[in-house]
Amino acid sequence: MTGRTSLTIVLAAGEGTRMRSSLPKVLHQVANQSLLAHVVMAAPQGAGSALAVVVGPDREDVAAEATRIRADATTFVQNERLGTAHAVLAAKDAIARGADDLLIAFGDTPLISSETFERLRAPLKDGAALAVLGFRAKAPGGYGRLLVADGQLVAIREEADASEAERRIDLCNAGVMAFAGTTALEVIEKIGNANSKGEYYLTDAVEIVRSMSLKAIVIETDEDEVRGINTKTQLAEAEAIMQTRLRRAALDAGVTLVAPETVHLSADTTFGKDVTIEQYVVIGSGVSIADGAVIHAFSHIVQAEIGKAVSVGPYARLRPGTSLGEGARIGNFVETKAAKLAAGVKVNHLTYIGDSEIGAGANIGAGTITCNYDGFNKSKTIIGAGAFVGSNSSLVAPVKIGSGAYIGSGSVITRDVPDDALAVERNEVSTREGWGRRFRDKYTGSKKPK
Ligand code: UD1
Ligand code: MG
Repeated sequence: MTGRTSLTIVLAAGEGTRMRSSLPKVLHQVANQSLLAHVVMAAPQGAGSALAVVVGPDREDVAAEATRIRADATTFVQNERLGTAHAVLAAKDAIARGADDLLIAFGDTPLISSETFERLRAPLKDGAALAVLGFRAKAPGGYGRLLVADGQLVAIREEADASEAERRIDLCNAGVMAFAGTTALEVIEKIGNANSKGEYYLTDAVEIVRSMSLKAIVIETDEDEVRGINTKTQLAEAEAIMQTRLRRAALDAGVTLVAPETVHLSADTTFGKDVTIEQYVVIGSGVSIADGAVIHAFSHIVQAEIGKAVSVGPYARLRPGTSLGEGARIGNFVETKAAKLAAGVKVNHLTYIGDSEIGAGANIGAGTITCNYDGFNKSKTIIGAGAFVGSNSSLVAPVKIGSGAYIGSGSVITRDVPDDALAVERNEVSTREGWGRRFRDKYTGSKKPK
C-alpha cells in the first residue's frame, strides 16, 4: 500500500508439542520451505515495511531462520508463554518505533497470502483502528468466535469463555490482525488476563478498541488460507493445498503438466516458457527450469539450474549444484551432483557425474562413473569440450580429460588426458578358437545341458 509504513509481528513462540518432533513447529516445511518462511514472505515487504519475529527462549534456530529469509528482520524472545498479547509485547521496542500499520500474524499459518495482508490493511486507511481476519469454519470448535453487530466487530470470544449461543457462531478469528499504528500500543497494553485461562489474549483488543470509541471490523477470507498447523496431519493437509496452488500457478504461467496431481513442486521453483513436466516428478528447493526444457517422468531434482531446451530423464536424479547448459541431455538412471554441464552435453544412460565440469558438446557414454570420493576427500573431474568418453569408463578424480579427447570404453583413467588424444586402459582380448564347442562336447557326452 503506497505511502503507509508497516510493522509485521510474527508470533512464533509456540511449543508445537503435538507435532511429536524435536524440530520447532514453525521450522517444519510446506513445499520445501519452513512454515515461518511462508508467513514472512507473504508479509508486506520493501521500503517502509519492518518485520519482527517473536520466538521462544533458546530458539536461536527459529531466529536464524527469520533473518535468513529477511536480513532486516528483528527477533524478540518471549520468555514465558503468557498469551498472544503478551507475545506481541515482547516486540514492544519494535512497535514503539512507530509505523502506520501494525500487523500481527502467526508463524504456524503458512497459507496466508500477501493479498490478504493488504486487504486487511485497507480499512485502517479509512479510519478503522483494528481489522481482524475472519473465516467461516466448517468445524469452529477451538477458535475464537467473532461477534458482529451493525457491520462492526464487537468482540472476539475465546472458546473457553464463550456462551452456548456464541459457540454456535461459525465466523472465527484467523489470528491475523491489523492495528492502526497511532493507537496500537495503547490498546495492546490495556489487555489484561482476567479470563478462564489467565492468559493475555490479543483478541481482547477488540473490546478495548470499542471502549475507546474506535472502530473494529472483520475482513473475511477462505478457511484454506488460515489453517493453523498443530499436527503432522494438518501439516500434510497444508502441503496438499500448497501443492494445488503451486501447480495451478505453474499451469497459469504456461507450464505443461501432463498429470499435475503427480508433480511435487517447491515454493521457489521457477519456470521459463514452454516447459513440460511429465508424470511423477519431484522438484525440491532451489530449482529453475528454463524455456523449452522437458522433465521426463520419475525424475528427482534438487537445487539445480536447468537451461533452455534441456531434456532430463525419465528416471534422472539431479542433486544440489547441478547446472545444465542449453540443449544438454540427461537420460535415464543418471545422477549428477555439483556438476556443471555446458551446452549440448549428452549423458544419456546409467551414469554418475559428481564434482565435475563438462565442456560444450561432450558425450559421456553409458555407465561412466566419476570416482570423486576416496573416503576422505572429494576431487574434481574436468572434461573438455567435445570430448567423447566411451561406455563403462571410470574417471578417477582429480583428473582432466582434454577437449576433443577420446576415452576407450571400459577404461579406468587415473591420469590427465591431453586434448585430442585417445586414452585406453584395457587388457588385450585373448581369443581361443573353438573353445565353446569343446566345452559343450565335453559335457553333452555325460549329461544333458540344463
Ligand atoms: C488463537 C486466538 C483465537 C484464534 C486462533 C486461530 C487468541 C487469544 N486466540 O487461539 O481467537 O481463533 O488463534 O488459530 O489469540 N503464541 C506465542 N506466545 C504465547 C501464546 C501464543 O507466541 O504466549 C503464538 C503461538 O505460537 C501461535 C499463536 O501465538 O503461533 C497462537 O497461539 P495459540 O496458542 O495457538 O492460540 P489459539 O488457542 O489457537
Ligand atoms: Mg493455535
